[in-house]
Parts: sequence; C-alpha cells; structure tokens
Amino acid sequence: MTYSRSDRAGAARSGAHMNPRPPLGILIRPEYGGEESAIGELTRLAFASNPRSTHNEHSIVQALRSANALTVSLVAEQTKRIVGHIAFSPVRISDRSPGWYGLGPVAVTPPLQGQGIGRALIEHGLQQLRGLGAQGCVVFGNPGLYNRFGFARHPGLYLAGVPQEFFLALPFGAKSAEGELTYHAAFSAAG
Ligand SMILES: CC(C)(COP(=O)(O)OP(=O)(O)OC[C@H]1O[C@@H](n2cnc3c(N)ncnc32)[C@H](O)[C@@H]1OP(=O)(O)O)[C@@H](O)C(=O)NCCC(=O)NCCS
Repeated sequence: MTYSRSDRAGAARSGAHMNPRPPLGILIRPEYGGEESAIGELTRLAFASNPRSTHNEHSIVQALRSANALTVSLVAEQTKRIVGHIAFSPVRISDRSPGWYGLGPVAVTPPLQGQGIGRALIEHGLQQLRGLGAQGCVVFGNPGLYNRFGFARHPGLYLAGVPQEFFLALPFGAKSAEGELTYHAAFSAAG
C-alpha cells in the first residue's frame, strides 16, 4: 500500500499511522535518576551546530527538571549509552484549555542523526502524552520536520514575538485550543 503526503498528514493527525518502533538496537525509555548530565551533554552537542539554536537547550531541560515540569522525559539508549532525548512540558493557553504540552527540546547525538531515532522519540513521546489524557501538543521548530507527525499551523493559537510559521500545534481531539500560548517559565529562566 502506498500513501500520499496528505494521507500521511491526516493519519498523523489522528495518530493512526504512528508506529513508534525504534530503529534496531535502540531502546526508548523514560529518563532515570542520575542521567541528568549525560542528557545535558547530549543536548548541548546536538544543538552546537544548529544555526537557529540559542545554545541553552541543555539548561532548559535542567530548569524544567528542577521545576518538576518534565512531564515526559524519554531517552534513546544504544548499548547502555544515551544517544537521544526528548522533553515535553506543560504550557498555558489564554483560553484556559487544559492538558496542552510543549515538545522540546529534542536531540539526537550528531553521529546517529538521520537514522530514525528522532522519529522514534517524537512518536513515543506523543503516544505517552495521549496516554496521560493530554489534549494537544505544540512545538516551535522546523515545519519540514514536525509536519511529518501531524503538527500544523493553527492560526487561532499563537506564540507572541516569534515567526508564526515555526509555531505548530497538534490537537489530539477534533478541536484546537485558541489564544496565546505561554511555555513553562523554565524556558525563559534558563541561562
Ligand atoms: C532534529 C533531530 C532531533 C531529528 O532526529 P533524527 O534522528 O536526526 O531524525 P530522524 O532520522 O528520526 O528523522 C525523522 C524524520 O524527520 C526528517 N528530518 C530529520 N531532520 C530534519 C530536518 N532538520 N528537517 C526536515 N526534516 C527532517 C527525516 O527525513 C525523517 O523523515 P521520514 O521518517 O519521513 O523519512 C536531530 O537531527 C537533532 O538532534 N538535531 C539537532 C537538534 C535540533 O535541531 N533539534 C530540533 C529543534 S526544532
């Protein structure tokens, strides 16, 4: 069976095509205590050559953790080594819609990028959020990457002060939230 691009986007929105099977030899699992510095270093290295990076993503992860706001924190493990990480944290929306979360930062160790680890982290994370009863997820990032998972522009939902084409949402139900979105304070507190 073949899928067109629009079939795939529709399936992604409904969660139907999600197949969070990681690449061979990669285990996706929750972060364990004691892995903070490995995750921080991995994140720092992954973003080092990203021209759009603010280079504080590792501090954001730590600030979220300290604030108890890492709702979902998954690592990708290969032969006992952490090679990827993804964070999800609660967000606020001015219409008071409950149960929305922000995806990110997500990072894969540079030598293993492009092999499906990021996809596995994103799909596992979204599946876990759904399992927690979340209503939706937002991300600020590359639409070319996140459209693949069903994220899209929802013009009624916005993040102030940024180019809106990079701000994407994935409602888990039929209706999106509307209004101004605010990320967890850890995003602005991180140095
Ligand atoms: C972004 C990142 C997490 C993706 O992880 P990855 O393991 O390299 O990605 P995958 O191999 O799982 O690719 C997942 C899908 O996204 C696509 N993709 C990956 N990176 C992409 C990019 N920068 N732009 C557009 N599409 C991208 C892949 O082609 C793949 O699509 P497909 O499954 O439909 O073929 C990783 O490259 C990374 O750590 N980059 C540096 C940090 C960063 O930029 N984080 C995201 C900030 S928005």
